[in-house]
Amino acid sequence: MIWLVGCCGMLGREFAAAFERAGISYTGTGSETDVTDKNTVLSFASGKNFKYIINCSAYTAVDKAESEEDKALLINRDGVLNLALAAKQIDAVLIHFSTDYVFDGESSEPYKETDATNPVSAYGRTKLAGEKALTGAIDKYFIFRISWLYGRFGGNFVSTMIRLMNERGSLGVVDDQKGSPTYTKHLVENVIRLINFGSSKYGIYHYSDEGIISWYDFAAVIYRIGRETGIIHKDVRLRRITSGEYPTPAKRPAMSAFNKDKVGRLEGFKLNRWEDNLSDYFKYYGEK
Ligand SMILES: NC(=O)c1ccc[n+]([C@@H]2O[C@H](COP(=O)([O-])OP(=O)(O)OC[C@H]3O[C@@H](n4cnc5c(N)ncnc54)[C@H](OP(=O)(O)O)[C@@H]3O)[C@@H](O)[C@H]2O)c1
Repeated sequence: MIWLVGCCGMLGREFAAAFERAGISYTGTGSETDVTDKNTVLSFASGKNFKYIINCSAYTAVDKAESEEDKALLINRDGVLNLALAAKQIDAVLIHFSTDYVFDGESSEPYKETDATNPVSAYGRTKLAGEKALTGAIDKYFIFRISWLYGRFGGNFVSTMIRLMNERGSLGVVDDQKGSPTYTKHLVENVIRLINFGSSKYGIYHYSDEGIISWYDFAAVIYRIGRETGIIHKDVRLRRITSGEYPTPAKRPAMSAFNKDKVGRLEGFKLNRWEDNLSDYFKYYGEK
C-alpha cells in the first residue's frame, strides 16, 4: 500500500492516474491532510500498512516565494520533516522530489549529486532545507531532484507556451538559461518500476529527460509539434531573448542540467530524450 501525499497537484495526479491504470492500491491525500501539522501527519500514518510514502506536496510558486519564504519553508521543510517522521514511525520508504534550483547555475558542467548546493532563490533555499531535514531524520528515502517539470495535469511551461502561441503573433522566449525538461508521465513510470523492484539503493538522485536545451529551444519544438498536431493553430514568430529582458522576482540558475549517471544505474529507471517525451505529451494533450 502506498500513501500518495499531494495527490491533486501536477505530479500527484500523474501518480494517481498511473496507479489507477495499473490497479496499484494507494491512499491519496491533498491539502486537507496538512503536511505542516505534525500531529495530523503522524496520526494519519499511525497503524497504516504503507510501504511507501510518495510526497508530491510542495510550495511551488517560485516567484511568490520571494515574498513569503516563511510559508514556503513551512511546507517545503517542516512538511517534509513531518513526512519523514511518519515514514520512520511505520518503517516506510519516503520518496520525495526536489529541484535543480538548489544549485546556483554557475557550473559549466551538468551537476552531480555530490556537487555543492547554493540556491539563488527563496524557493531553492526552502527545497534544500527540506532535503536536509529529510536526510537528517531517516535513511530509507529516495530524493529525486528534477527540473522543468511538465505534464498534462497542471499548468507548466508547455501548457503556457501553447496558450500564448494561440493568442499572439510573436513571442520572446529566454535563450540564456539551459537545463532539461522532466515529463511527469515518464518520471512516474520510472518510480513505479523502482517500487516494483523494491530497490534499497536509497539516496539523492538527479533525474530529468535526456538533452540540454534552453527555454527557447524547448519553445521551438513545442511550436513545431503543436503546428503538426493542429493544437497550435496559427503562425507565430519566436524570438530569442535574454533573462534580462524577462525579469522575474526570483533569480533562476543559468545552467541547471543534471549529470544522470547515478539514476541511470538505479533499478527500473530508463531515460528518454526530451523530444520523445514532448511528442508523447502532445498525444495526450487535452485528456484528463
Ligand atoms: N513544477 C516544476 O517545474 C518543478 C520543478 C522541479 C521540482 N519540482 C518539484 O516536484 C514536486 C511536484 O511539483 P508539482 O509541480 O506537481 O507541484 P504542484 O502542482 O504545485 O502541487 C503541489 C501540491 O501540494 C499541495 N500542498 C500544498 N501545501 C500543502 C500542505 N500544507 N499539505 C498538503 N498538501 C499541500 C497542493 O495542494 P493545494 O493546491 O490544494 O494547495 C498541491 O496539490 C514538488 O516537490 C516540486 O518542488 C517541481
